Amino acid sequence: MLVNGTHYRTVWMQGQSVFFIDQNALPFSFRVHEAKTYQETCEAIKDMRVRGAPAIGVTAGFAMAQAFLQGADIELAKQDIEATRPTAYNLFYATNRVYKSMSPVLEAQCIADEDVAACKKIGEYGVSLIGSGFRIETHCNAGWLACVDYGTALSPIYVAKQRGKNISVLVDETRPRGQGARLTAWELYHNGVEHKIITDNAAAYFMSRKEIDLIIVGADRIARNGDTANKIGTLEKAICAKEFGIPFYIAAPMSTIDKKCATGREIPIEERSEDEVLYQTGKTAEGMLERILVCSPDSHASNPAFDVTPAKYITGIITENGIFKPGELR
Ligand code: MRU
Repeated sequence: MLVNGTHYRTVWMQGQSVFFIDQNALPFSFRVHEAKTYQETCEAIKDMRVRGAPAIGVTAGFAMAQAFLQGADIELAKQDIEATRPTAYNLFYATNRVYKSMSPVLEAQCIADEDVAACKKIGEYGVSLIGSGFRIETHCNAGWLACVDYGTALSPIYVAKQRGKNISVLVDETRPRGQGARLTAWELYHNGVEHKIITDNAAAYFMSRKEIDLIIVGADRIARNGDTANKIGTLEKAICAKEFGIPFYIAAPMSTIDKKCATGREIPIEERSEDEVLYQTGKTAEGMLERILVCSPDSHASNPAFDVTPAKYITGIITENGIFKPGELR
């Protein structure tokens, strides 16, 4: 995707270093960060400077390649990398592929290129669901920042825009980290897609007023029966969509499907720091980044990062191999 006229991938490897767009700095500043060792790359995944299941997967593949180049203990490195984030299946898909490969760097590069190709295809299949004039809701950020390029849920939206379809997007803010308000809105703005940010609580209101025609979200892990883990809040959007008869689609590459996982009950859910709920970071009038407490000072918070949407709420899953009903995945 283009940022101020220059084409970027979200993450890439050059020599022994992994370079990535620092997503914690967005939307206020655009920075590319260099991780020189696999340990530094692990920190970037943990801190969510690189985030989004496909991007996490590709970065983990590069971290494995770095570990080989560093001459590190590979078993230990694999454990370290896999301990960074537990839910996104793409991470384990990538570490296992690179671990088994005779050419770790080439294999990691190959995973990155495959992700780009898959996301492009997701856009080409998914655009068939979008009519001109459609108002589309999306949750969290499943755009090109969450992948290497193009995105998953946003890829069909970008193709629709390129084909001249008159579309607009309702962007859930996605508390606590605000990936919708910060990242999806930034992406859509830079690609000239009409959009509005809505509070996480507003979706049912818009659905009940027939102001949403289609919902497309991404996925962090999909079980064999189609149950899908995605950013917290996805489940309630899916339940409301069924109530109001709005098509609810998941967009994800095949590398997000965990064939060993029979149902959503087996998907591990990441619990993140309560600070993500208690504090917010924003830009002051003077242009400084500031972190402020936004909750009652003596209260604690619970912060599950994902929920699981049962297959019965999912209209279809858009992949690089076509659009499937959840039950067809088996
Ligand atoms: O915690 P994050 O930001 O890494 O969460 C992942 C996501 O961005 C979403 O859940 C997304 O819809 C799936 S990744 C394309």
